[in-house]
Amino acid sequence: MAVTVGIASGKGGVGKTTLTILLGLTSAFYKKRTLIVDTDVGMGNVNIIIGKGFKTSIINCLTEGRSLEEAIINLEDRGFPFLDIIPSGNMEERLLNLNKKAATFLLSRMGNLFKKYDVVIFDLGAGANTFLLNIFSAVDYPVLVVNPEPPSIVDAYSLMKLTHLSYGNQKFYYLLNFYQILFQLSFLNFVIFHHQLNLLLN
Ligand SMILES: Nc1ncnc2c1ncn2[C@@H]1O[C@H](COP(=O)(O)OP(=O)(O)OP(=O)(O)O)[C@@H](O)[C@H]1O
Ligand SMILES: [Mg+2]
Repeated sequence: MAVTVGIASGKGGVGKTTLTILLGLTSAFYKKRTLIVDTDVGMGNVNIIIGKGFKTSIINCLTEGRSLEEAIINLEDRGFPFLDIIPSGNMEERLLNLNKKAATFLLSRMGNLFKKYDVVIFDLGAGANTFLLNIFSAVDYPVLVVNPEPPSIVDAYSLMKLTHLSYGNQKFYYLLNFYQILFQLSFLNFVIFHHQLNLLLN
């Protein structure tokens, strides 16, 4: 049964997709059968970063009942036979209201895939809609990507609090990205950052 990882952050642009792909590549490098599911539906860019086109996406699975297996793209031609991705598809107005029902439907359709893979990683996109929260709260490793900047820390904290209060999750994981910014922060920002981090960790 696959180990499941959800990559979220609250704030946009902090490196979720980059770290999702790096995590996937690393896992596949060690011969773990790995699947990246681009759950940033409509705004995802996993396939764009990897440079792969697609015919079927999560959107077709959610709206037309197509199977998720049809949407799988293998990366053997990129030197990673153990890595597959499912693209999220392009934005369509009818998908703006993704909800709990869509998340439950997607997870239920993933039953066979969870058996087939060792690791499944969800790139959950920015924000905190119910679709995202349902998947984030259901994975084995809910990971929050944070930058060493107060807005990122606060948004990650809000997402953690919301997930805890709504779904009862007790344990979260953090990935610090852009840590080099720490060295560029002014003293005042550095003090604020420390204060926020303490709040977050307590
Ligand atoms: N560790 C890093 N070092 C340098 N650049 C990075 C790093 N991580 C991410 N980036 C760059 O930062 C930008 C945002 O990264 P990315 O798209 O992964 O963020 P995201 O959190 O997925 O964004 P979104 O919320 O829009 O989905 C990209 O240009 C990416 O190349
Ligand atoms: Mg992204």
